[in-house]
Amino acid sequence: MTFQVMQKETSSKAALYAHLAGQLQALLEGEHDLIANAANFAALLYHSLPDVNWTGFYLFKEGELVLGPFQGNPACVRIAIGKGVCGTAAELKQTVVVENVYEFPGHIACDSASNSEIVVPLIKDKQLIGVLDLDSPSFARFDDEDARGLNELADIFVQAVQSSSGSESKL
Ligand code: SME
Repeated sequence: MTFQVMQKETSSKAALYAHLAGQLQALLEGEHDLIANAANFAALLYHSLPDVNWTGFYLFKEGELVLGPFQGNPACVRIAIGKGVCGTAAELKQTVVVENVYEFPGHIACDSASNSEIVVPLIKDKQLIGVLDLDSPSFARFDDEDARGLNELADIFVQAVQSSSGSESKL
């Protein structure tokens, strides 16, 4: 399987996320392995989005977030619910956009190159199953358009989990 990385310089964010939605649908088509799909999703984001240095997942397991598939530097493995940007998004079940991570109380610094961050909670049947986390070396890299686009991509991912493994699925 191959995918075409869109020309980032000439694309609007909306066009880029629309393009990524089609690519993610194609990547997940017919594949039901959660870890494989999460790994491909993380790689797609890492190689398609400009100005990101970490893209990946923390999965909700036994009451905490545990590192899942990702692209970027090695990261901290376990994050408590309510801690850091990831734990906050998980607790609130809301997307959290941080323009300057050093101003976010309790931010967990895994890579000193990261200056801004966005975390999208992954909700299935109203239950938290994990979070999607992206970091950037630029301040204020992520905005409402990124939040909207990444939430749409996260929905595609969650739908694939639902349709593949049913109600007994555990992340
Ligand atoms: N900065 C995150 C930790 C995970 S890394 O960014 C990969 C946080 O504060 O939750």
